[in-house]
Amino acid sequence: MFTPRPIGHVNSPYQDTSAIPKGLGVKHDAEGVLTLLPEYAPGLTDIDGFSHLFVIWAFDRSEGFELIGHGPTDDRPHGVFATRSPRRPNPIGLTVVELLRREGARLFVRGVDMLDGTPILDIKPYMSSIPAEKLRRGWLAEAESRKQHS
Ligand SMILES: C[S@@+](CC[C@H](N)C(=O)[O-])C[C@H]1O[C@@H](n2cnc3c(N)ncnc32)[C@H](O)[C@@H]1O
Repeated sequence: MFTPRPIGHVNSPYQDTSAIPKGLGVKHDAEGVLTLLPEYAPGLTDIDGFSHLFVIWAFDRSEGFELIGHGPTDDRPHGVFATRSPRRPNPIGLTVVELLRREGARLFVRGVDMLDGTPILDIKPYMSSIPAEKLRRGWLAEAESRKQHS
């Protein structure tokens, strides 16, 4: 195994987890900046042409993990690997952001759901070849349907 080393950090408007929108159907429109350490900046070469990016990051302010837990999106419990809970055995976050522009080692993005100062582990261009009709949303779709009919 390797020891993850942050390649930079997120500048986000969120200082506290309570400020981050949560729950069913939530949209993340907040803008933020992904600031890379200078030694990794050459790795951003050619990134400008991508509209969206995967950001892989560390939940540096979560503690421990829960294999079955209750989240803010449903009143029923779910397995951690069927959720996006911050309390996971390896506290790794994954967020798709829209790339607005780049200024040197700084990527201006929309769609952050991380706390200010969150360490970034990796960035990759977003690509999906899965047709929408093939995607299944599991318990989330059921929770959405229950909410609509309640
Ligand atoms: C539900 S998780 C989803 C994160 C990411 N989109 C994912 O799927 O891995 C987002 C929540 O993680 C928490 N969070 C954000 N940044 C964090 C950090 N640096 N350390 C611990 N918890 C964090 C906040 O409560 C936020 O609402």
